[in-house]
Amino acid sequence: MNHSVKIAPSLLAADFANLQRDVARVEEGGAEYLHLDVMDGIFVPNISFGAGIISALRPHSKMFFDVHLMITEPIRYIDDFISAGADGITIHYESCENQEEVLRAIRSAGKKAAISIKPATPAFVLEPLLPYLDMILIMTVEPGFGGQKFMSETMANVEAAAQMIRDGGYSIALEVDGGISSANVAIPASRGANVIVAGSAVFKAQSPAQAISDIREEAERAYLLQAQERIKPFSLGENQQT
Ligand code: DX5
Ligand code: ZN
Repeated sequence: MNHSVKIAPSLLAADFANLQRDVARVEEGGAEYLHLDVMDGIFVPNISFGAGIISALRPHSKMFFDVHLMITEPIRYIDDFISAGADGITIHYESCENQEEVLRAIRSAGKKAAISIKPATPAFVLEPLLPYLDMILIMTVEPGFGGQKFMSETMANVEAAAQMIRDGGYSIALEVDGGISSANVAIPASRGANVIVAGSAVFKAQSPAQAISDIREEAERAYLLQAQERIKPFSLGENQQT
């Protein structure tokens, strides 16, 4: 089924002693993406997992492997994550100076290239990189840990990124990550977010499948409504001069 919003459960909230089982659960529950948070203990104050875990899971899943690199100087490890089976790689704007080079390296391997900004980084810094991007990830918490509270002040970044993408006529997906559940997903989705990361809300739920479908329902409703409202003024001819 082709959904307008993709759901990306974050493996960080899975049971690390049962990764294969938990990955199968979210895949059966309808998730299109598996969000894989790689942390080096330097760019963020936490260490998660690396390419070895990703390559071990690769044969067990057909989901899009959405690798979120929270590591300094990501250029050093792009090849490793591609060999491990990443379908898309997100680097952090704040993690290096050579963002364009890294994005080009990801794309030249035939993978989707994305960049992420922390809550304090304004979205306009991404403007020069738009031609090299398949996705933008707006952090809705400080990167480093799962289970944090959604920061509504990051919605300014979602709005600005959505505007830049539209104004430039790009087809760039817009992902949000951190503290998202079915109770608040309408907030970013109503501003144009169409790839939704959810860790705790999915893996800590009684039924991950139910959580995925609840998040999707809320997100699609809000996303489709904002898309509709944006085209309305033109279809109604309100701007016509008489
Ligand atoms: C935080 C990670 C997130 C995290 C989200 O640095 O990038 O992907 O796993 O987890 P929840 O949804 O629990 O906030
Ligand atoms: Zn993440």
